[in-house]
Amino acid sequence: MSIQNFWFSYKNILRNEFIKKKYFSLSRKIIGVLSKFIIRFFRHKFSINCTNLDKLDIEDFLDYELNDLFIKFNCDKGSYFIQDQKKILSHNYSAFYEKYFKPFKNKKINLLELGSHEGKGLASFFFYFSNSKLYGANINPFQMRFESIRITELFVDVSNQKILNSLSHHLKRDFDIIIDDASHNLRDIIITFLIFFKKLKSKGVYVIEDINQLKVFKELNPYKNEITPIEILKKIQKKEHFQSSFLTENDKEYLFNNIESIKIEKGSMIIEEENVSEIAFIFKK
Ligand SMILES: C[S@@+](CC[C@H](N)C(=O)[O-])C[C@H]1O[C@@H](n2cnc3c(N)ncnc32)[C@H](O)[C@@H]1O
Repeated sequence: MSIQNFWFSYKNILRNEFIKKKYFSLSRKIIGVLSKFIIRFFRHKFSINCTNLDKLDIEDFLDYELNDLFIKFNCDKGSYFIQDQKKILSHNYSAFYEKYFKPFKNKKINLLELGSHEGKGLASFFFYFSNSKLYGANINPFQMRFESIRITELFVDVSNQKILNSLSHHLKRDFDIIIDDASHNLRDIIITFLIFFKKLKSKGVYVIEDINQLKVFKELNPYKNEITPIEILKKIQKKEHFQSSFLTENDKEYLFNNIESIKIEKGSMIIEEENVSEIAFIFKK
């Protein structure tokens, strides 16, 4: 991790506590987070509980399809993953990712994943997009289990507009692909989309995973009568007006003017008889 990226993450973790007026937690984190960064530095340097992807032979993965990579790295974007030695059927997004990401496969691309967690998705994309630069951002940047000169990991809290704007300014580049797989909360999805769709290059694709999980997990939608992200996208597809507490008239105009097309797909994870694997691909003009 570069000094600039360390400083960005350290400063914003503390700033996030300050903005939320969690002063006790802030005072604990001044030293606590610093020591976590020092431990992280040595963990990544000596590959302790962390895989250096640059040391794996990319040739070994050349005939892997995206689903094979998701399975290899035990990522829940694929058809299954292993937990406690049990095979668990997961979102099964591979076919959609393969379909919409293929045009980018051999290009020099920048990909950002919000909600990068341990980096299983990023590790899979590392081998799929062999010419890519990958950026992960997470509320807990110490969860990352992969290291590479092609991977940058930063802090973000997608529920905080100021932190989202800071990350957007800190990342001095635009992206070909942005994936939101972070909190899946109604408001967070919308404010993140508005800020980061602007960081997408023309003809780029913005992905929102598990876009309608808030239907099942009620804590993800604590709002009364708010239009949901999937409903917003359907309104934009039909060029219909809508009201959202989280978007101004200018914001909506920006979205109407800059979205080329939207595809909403369904994977296969079922919870409480509801499909919780809806995924949106939003293409920029
Ligand atoms: C479903 S996991 C992501 C899995 C990962 N994308 C992958 O492909 O393996 C969601 C991640 O989002 C993170 N997260 C939750 N709330 C967040 C927030 N407000 N801001 C940023 N990240 C958040 C969680 O800590 C977790 O690591």
